[in-house]
Amino acid sequence: MDKNLFSKIDRHYDRVRTENQKRLEERRAQVYRDLPMIKELEDGIRDKGFQGVFQGIQGASTQGAIGDIEAMGAMKREILSQAGLGPDYLDPIYTCPFCKDTGYLEDGSRCDCLKQLLAKDLYEMSNLDRVLARENFDHFNLDVFSKTISPDEGISPYENMTSILRKVQVFLKNFPKDNGENLLFYGGTGLGKTFLSNCIAKDLLDQNYTVIYQTAFSLVDILERKKFQKDSSKDLNLAYKLLFTSDLLIIDDLGTEVTNQFTNAELFNIINTRMLGGKKLLISTNLALHEIQNVYSDRIFSRMMQSFIPIHFFGEDLRFRT
Ligand SMILES: Nc1ncnc2c1ncn2[C@@H]1O[C@H](COP(=O)(O)OP(=O)(O)O)[C@@H](O)[C@H]1O
Ligand SMILES: [Mg+2]
Ligand SMILES: [Zn+2]
Repeated sequence: MDKNLFSKIDRHYDRVRTENQKRLEERRAQVYRDLPMIKELEDGIRDKGFQGVFQGIQGASTQGAIGDIEAMGAMKREILSQAGLGPDYLDPIYTCPFCKDTGYLEDGSRCDCLKQLLAKDLYEMSNLDRVLARENFDHFNLDVFSKTISPDEGISPYENMTSILRKVQVFLKNFPKDNGENLLFYGGTGLGKTFLSNCIAKDLLDQNYTVIYQTAFSLVDILERKKFQKDSSKDLNLAYKLLFTSDLLIIDDLGTEVTNQFTNAELFNIINTRMLGGKKLLISTNLALHEIQNVYSDRIFSRMMQSFIPIHFFGEDLRFRT
């Protein structure tokens, strides 16, 4: 993972603050030109401020100075309003008013804008930004699915995908609700599970949710590195933490990774913690349901079955279609 993720993010906020500062200076120059009164009022406010500080130091009452400053401030806002610029026109400009473009809230926790940036960067680093440009609902093509009825299922892959899309639509509509709904995509290779997962990821990222996509393989890699690296990097810690805290965690190709007791326990921990916190999961697997039970401990399996909506993919491998 890119060691420079955090310095890249610092540069991002630096740039945002510099741009906003520049915009404010342009506004100020324009206002001073068009409304010279404003400059006089601002100078007056500053002078009164100094005066108040001196009076305060000398133990005198600062009430008068404060009253004057407030009156001049109100007048300034009034003039700006009447000029059609809005009373806040010369206030500091923030792209994110919650963290004032620092990424951190007053209590030191990460602002949502930072979390989102981190999630987007993680997507970029796993090259998913390019994938998501291709695999999204705008490019979803129902016609790749066969209209021939499968004798085992009684419906065609086309009909199946139509009904899957309806379920996914409901999932997305209810996404903000803490209704404990998770999705389990299961079925053979080349049936569109990863494609549809990416559509869902893109849709939610566009709505500013944090979405983490990991193949089961890369997930286990994170878990193992986290366990064995003594002083783990900031990025690794973040990747690990987001497994628990992202709005959606997508685990693709579950069952292809090498599992052991440690990774199974960790996986259970992630799923369990997310469920308790009302954070959703999308798991896809090439395994049949009974095979999952063999690979994972019963605990994980029964827990999964309770809260996942099982969605079965079937049909011909799309990669070999003519
Ligand atoms: N809805 C779709 N529209 C267009 N192409 C699709 C769609 N679903 C899958 N594909 C294509 O079919 C192939 C297999 O899909 P994939 O999602 O990788 O299957 P799986 O994850 O089930 O193995 C990929 O090349 C993918 O781009
Ligand atoms: Mg896949
Ligand atoms: Zn913010």
